[in-house]
Amino acid sequence: MTDQNFLQQWNEININEPAPETEPSRQYYFMKKCKVLLEEKTQELGRKLTCCAVTFGCQMNAKDSEKLLGILENIGFVATESEDADFIIYNTCTVRENANLKVYGRLGYLKNKKKKNPNMMIALCGCMMQEPEVVSKIKESYRFVDLVFGTHNIYKLAELLYQRLNENKMVVDILDGTDNIVEDLPAERKYSFKAGVNIMFGCNNFCTYCIVPYVRGRERSRNPKDIIREIEALVADGVVEVMLLGQNVNSYGKNLEEKITFAQLLQEVEKIEGLERIRFMTSHPKDLSDELIEVMKHSKKICNHMHLPVQSGSDRILNRMNRKYTKEHYLNLVNKLKESIPNISLTTDIIVGFPGETEEDFLETLDLVEKVGYDTAYTFIYSKRTGTPAAKMENQVPEDVVKDRFDRLLKTIQTISKEKTYAYEGTDQLVLVEGVSEHDSAYVTGRLSNNLLVHFKADSELIGKLVNVHLDEAKGFYYIGHQC
Ligand code: 5AD
Ligand code: SF4
Repeated sequence: MTDQNFLQQWNEININEPAPETEPSRQYYFMKKCKVLLEEKTQELGRKLTCCAVTFGCQMNAKDSEKLLGILENIGFVATESEDADFIIYNTCTVRENANLKVYGRLGYLKNKKKKNPNMMIALCGCMMQEPEVVSKIKESYRFVDLVFGTHNIYKLAELLYQRLNENKMVVDILDGTDNIVEDLPAERKYSFKAGVNIMFGCNNFCTYCIVPYVRGRERSRNPKDIIREIEALVADGVVEVMLLGQNVNSYGKNLEEKITFAQLLQEVEKIEGLERIRFMTSHPKDLSDELIEVMKHSKKICNHMHLPVQSGSDRILNRMNRKYTKEHYLNLVNKLKESIPNISLTTDIIVGFPGETEEDFLETLDLVEKVGYDTAYTFIYSKRTGTPAAKMENQVPEDVVKDRFDRLLKTIQTISKEKTYAYEGTDQLVLVEGVSEHDSAYVTGRLSNNLLVHFKADSELIGKLVNVHLDEAKGFYYIGHQC
C-alpha cells in the first residue's frame, strides 16, 4: 500500500464507533485502539515501549515477522533486536523436532525476564502453534505467555493484543485453515533495498515427511494484480530486488479464477520499471515447466539461481516420500536448465535417514549430488513429525547410521561447492551491496546473482546499489574482491 492509501485508511477510522467487519479496516481500527492504550502506558512509564520479533525457520516466517513488526510499530512500539523488549514475539517453526525444542528452551529464559519486567508481554505464533498438542502444553506449563496465534491469523495481531490488554488472561486464537488473504496491512522491512513478497500460501503436496501442509493449510495464490501493486510500491520506496515466496511457486495461479502460470507472473514482474533483480523460492521439481525455463533464459532480471529441493536420489525413497518424480526426471530437468541458462547456480535440500533408506538408496543420493554439481545443498537429518504418514513407517534408520551418512554427504557437497566457487575467481560480477561486512567495517558485503557473497573495500554509501566487482580470491564459500 502506498503511504497515501495508508494515511487515508488510518484517518477514516473512528474508534468511537463499533469495529468494522471488513478487513483490513478492522485491523486498522484495533491498531488505533491499541495505540491509545499504549500512549497511556508510555505516559505512565515516561518512556517508549519496545517490541522484538524473533524468527525461527524459513523465509516465509521472516516475511510474516515483518508484517508483525509493521503492525506493532503502527501501534506505537519501537522495534529493537533485544529480547529485553516490552513486547516479544516468537514466530515459530515446526518443520523439524529440534525447532520446537529450541522454542521451549527459550521460553524458560523469557519467564525470568518477565519476572523482572512486569510490563513485558510474550506472544507465540507461527507453524508450531498450529499443532494442538503444543497449544495444550503452553496452556498448561507456560501460563506466563500472553498471546498465542497461528499461521492463518497473523494479520489479526492488533485485535488479539487489544483483547489481551482488556482481559487479564492468555488469549489463544488458532484457525484450522482459511481461504482468506488479507491485503494492504503495514510491514516493517528489514532491508530498504530488497524485500520478500508472498505470491502464495500453503501447500497441497503432502510429502510424507512434511508437516507444512498441516500447519500452513491448502494452497492459495494471491491475485497477480495485488502482487504487482505491492512490488510497484516497494520499488517506489527504493527496493531493487524482490524474492517471490511460496512453498511451491511452480503451482502458482492454479486455484485462481483467472488462470495464470508462475512463468506468466514472472513476465509481469519483469516489466516493473526500476526493479533490477527477481528471485523466487521454492520450486518443486514435479511442477517445473519448460515455460519457466524459457522465461528465465530470456529474462534480464531473474537471478541466475534455482533452488530445487531433491530430498533424495533414490526412486524408491522418492516414491515413499510422495515426491512424484524420479531421479531420471530430476536429472533431465537439471540438464535442461544447464543447457538453457549457462552457469546457472543450483542449490537443493536433501533429507538423510528417511524411514527405510538403505545404503544403496543413500549411494543413489551421493551419485545424484555428484552428477548435478550443486553450488550449495542444505542437508537435514530426517525428523519424525507426529501426524505425517512417514512417522508411522517402519524401518526408521538407526541414529549412528544416519550420522555417518550425513557426514559423508556433507563432505561430498563441500568438495563440490568449493570447486564451484573457485570457478568464478578472477571474473567481474554485478553485485547488490547488502551491508557493511561483519568482519571488517572498511568492507561491504555484496551478493552475486548466483547468491554467493563477496566482501570488498568500499563506503557504506554503496548499500542498496548494484556495482561491478572483480572477484580476486575465492575463500571457500565467499569471495574477496574489489570494485571495478
Ligand atoms: N525432517 C527433516 N527435514 C525436513 N524437511 C521438511 N520436513 C522435514 C523432516 N520431517 C526439509 C526438507 C524441506 C526443507 C525446508 O526442510 O528438505 O525441503
Ligand atoms: Fe513440505 Fe513437500 Fe510442501 Fe515442500 S512441497 S512444503 S516439502 S509438503
